[in-house]
Amino acid sequence: MNNNLFSNIEVAGQTLNNRMVMAPMTRNRAPDNIANAMMAEHYAQRAGAGLIITEGTQLSEQAVGYPATPGIYNQQQVKGWRLVTDAVHAKGSCIFAQLWHCGRISHPSYHNGELPVAPSAITPSGSAFTYEGLQPFVEPRALETSELPGIVEQYRHGAACAIEAGFDGVEIHAANGYLIDQFIRDGSNRRSDQYGGSLENRIRLLLQIVSAVGNEVGHHKVGVRISPINAFNDMSDSDPQSTFNHVATSLSGLGLAFLHVVEVDMTGQSDPDFDMLQLREKFDGIYIANGAYDKSRGNRSIAAGRADLIAFGVPFLANPDLPQRFRIDAPLNKADEATFYGGDEHGYNDYPVLRSD
Ligand SMILES: Cc1cc2nc3c(=O)[nH]c(=O)nc-3n(C[C@H](O)[C@H](O)[C@H](O)COP(=O)(O)O)c2cc1C
Repeated sequence: MNNNLFSNIEVAGQTLNNRMVMAPMTRNRAPDNIANAMMAEHYAQRAGAGLIITEGTQLSEQAVGYPATPGIYNQQQVKGWRLVTDAVHAKGSCIFAQLWHCGRISHPSYHNGELPVAPSAITPSGSAFTYEGLQPFVEPRALETSELPGIVEQYRHGAACAIEAGFDGVEIHAANGYLIDQFIRDGSNRRSDQYGGSLENRIRLLLQIVSAVGNEVGHHKVGVRISPINAFNDMSDSDPQSTFNHVATSLSGLGLAFLHVVEVDMTGQSDPDFDMLQLREKFDGIYIANGAYDKSRGNRSIAAGRADLIAFGVPFLANPDLPQRFRIDAPLNKADEATFYGGDEHGYNDYPVLRSD
């Protein structure tokens, strides 16, 4: 029989209960940058997922770019996340932390007036989310070559903290226009050192981070997320297929936990000119597909071997018991976009579940 969303699969040395992944989703409910009991409840409610990937979790003060997002670099934050990992493990699921550095998608108000950092001093169009509301992005400061080992070290340290907090692994956020993606794509990287120019140079930082994090926690506990066609955060590349084929090939043979691909842009559209299957074929490990999937499309992709697991974002946000609903073809709750970013339990922990009687 073909595999489907409900088949088991082994990831990071653990057998997952199903192939449904809760996609990473920032919810801005960590007022002091520390994960809390309300968040533990939120993730535990969604532990029917075979694998949960947390919201983006910053690696340092330099890495912050949004209000009230959790971090993973000091002991208080480790303690906060321990509430989450314990709650999820008690329900029998598996959880990875998404390691995040926003790079130029930030604002001086987060950095005592200092500029956000980036591969190159190119101002993204759009506005930063700050504690004082939306403010235009500023021209970031290009990182010196000599600073890049320090960036790699932030990822290594964050990964070590994640394991200390009880996570089963980490996902390196190389998607959606944040720091690593800013290095990968040539619209935001105009460097002339060994981290810019050729494809090889543009993915050097990603590979150094994967290597440092893998050596710290074990490569089998490290996943990578990419978003080849997503223009969000003013991203562009002159040849996305070649760029991301090269990324997928370079991440092969390292024994990683998975490659996680956002296959759509921010509006949920795919690009007929980009062939995602090439990434699937070039990467030798587990492939997680994400972006506007529903039950039937997810099952079809897994059965056809186009993906090993499917990550669901908004469907999991609005349906804590999504796997159960899929199992019995129950209707889904509608997501309330007004409560996506910031706020309290409302729109976070009060989405209804199916009655069990
Ligand atoms: C509220 C919200 C927050 C998000 N935050 C993150 C994030 O922190 N990290 C990330 O990689 N993607 C983030 N995303 C993108 C989702 O992980 C996912 O790629 C997107 O929702 C498309 O999947 P879907 O069609 O199943 O919702 C976010 C999406 C939403 C709706």
